[in-house]
Amino acid sequence: MSLLDAYEKTKQELNVTPEKLTEITDHFVSELNKGLSKTGGNIPMIPGWVMDYPTGQETGDYLAIDLGGTNLRVVKVSLLGDSKFTYEAEKYPIPVPMRTGKSEDLWNFIADSLDTFVKKHYGSRGSSMAKLPLGFTFSYPASQDAINEGVLQRWTKGFDIDGVEGENVVPLLQDAINVRNTPVEVVSLINDTTGTLVASKYCDPETIMGLIFGTGCNGAYYDVCKDIPKLEGRLPDDLLKENSPMAINCEYGAFDNEWAVLPRTKYDIQIDQESPRPGQQYYEKMIAGYYLGEVLRLILLDYYSQDLIFKDQNIKPLQVPFAMDTSFPSRIEQHSAPFVEGLFLDSFNIKTTEEERNIIHDLCLLIGTRSARLSVCGIAAICKKRNYKAGHCASDGSVFNKYPHFKERAHEALNDIFQWNCDPKDYPITLIHAEDGSGVGAAVIACLTEKRLLANKSVGTIESKL
Ligand code: BGC
Repeated sequence: MSLLDAYEKTKQELNVTPEKLTEITDHFVSELNKGLSKTGGNIPMIPGWVMDYPTGQETGDYLAIDLGGTNLRVVKVSLLGDSKFTYEAEKYPIPVPMRTGKSEDLWNFIADSLDTFVKKHYGSRGSSMAKLPLGFTFSYPASQDAINEGVLQRWTKGFDIDGVEGENVVPLLQDAINVRNTPVEVVSLINDTTGTLVASKYCDPETIMGLIFGTGCNGAYYDVCKDIPKLEGRLPDDLLKENSPMAINCEYGAFDNEWAVLPRTKYDIQIDQESPRPGQQYYEKMIAGYYLGEVLRLILLDYYSQDLIFKDQNIKPLQVPFAMDTSFPSRIEQHSAPFVEGLFLDSFNIKTTEEERNIIHDLCLLIGTRSARLSVCGIAAICKKRNYKAGHCASDGSVFNKYPHFKERAHEALNDIFQWNCDPKDYPITLIHAEDGSGVGAAVIACLTEKRLLANKSVGTIESKL
């Protein structure tokens, strides 16, 4: 077999046809419903306890933190009403060993960063002032019986810290904050997708869902309380009477963990088996930023083992797991084939021929296209489930923002599923860039929660203390 033959085979394997997209989407719809049922399913479908649509008129000052896959962000948000806001944010990179380190190190790191931020932005007023309300964006699957709690179901995106799964993370953080006497109280815990949904709806009423295509992938949308069978018998009367909406954090990265429809390749299987949580997040492991560079690396190692590429070279640096993050395929696609030469020399001390560079470039195109096409199955499934015929899908995350052509490819795939067959600029359902979910979204949610509490409205199940 030649390198070109091997590439052609990979091309077949990574191709997702319109028929496959439709098959996946239909299965996805039934899995979303299963997740809301009493027995549950693979997709957690977590009620996020946001039971109001923002009007754009919310006002007030809030703090927010976002524990994502790569950075901790601390944000000071002022909601000004009229869909307007201002904010100041700081990023604190999460040290890589912390992802698999000790629980207390993580909470101490967050509390220290928060303390530094409060001192810098509020100065000496810090310790004497009333406690600042904080919205905590925790971008991992966390079960919630109320807006101010979140029990981590399992780590994703390469995190693996003992002693946190099964725990309510709000007191873990609050205790670390209290030790430092930082005047902050965690009032709400939200997922990044729920934040994205609410922040975008604060600014754009046509928003129908909030999506993250970043280190991980996930989506949130508004359902209706009475249509959530697993909450039957657990909902306070006011929510039932008012027929309240309910934001749902789907956690659909876990779609198809039983592997019924996804066109997984041997590379996807290997990524899963070598991950800290095999058997979980099958969908996410095929499309999210944490894994796209790894797919490319595994394909290249496979070709190398067949003596098809990098012949007679020492490729040790490339044999290190996750040696290429997603910026590799993304930059290669952006800069075209000749860019591969310097990149592989500088990063791995590997020389490439022109044919190899062209093939590596084309592989990046295939990996990015597969990611975008599979990504829209979650969107299409939510639209089918809620019968949305038009609207804006507020999207954020490094893959959406940085991987070349993601949006165009996603739109093309949506058209493959819905067969609009009109000019792309007239597609009724489109991906648009989201407002800052973890900052503005967390602030709007904290504000909506305060209002509900003041009005004596529920913000959790009948068993919750709120
Ligand atoms: C997490 C979700 C999160 C998504 C995007 C996934 O790995 O489970 O909670 O929304 O990544 O950040």
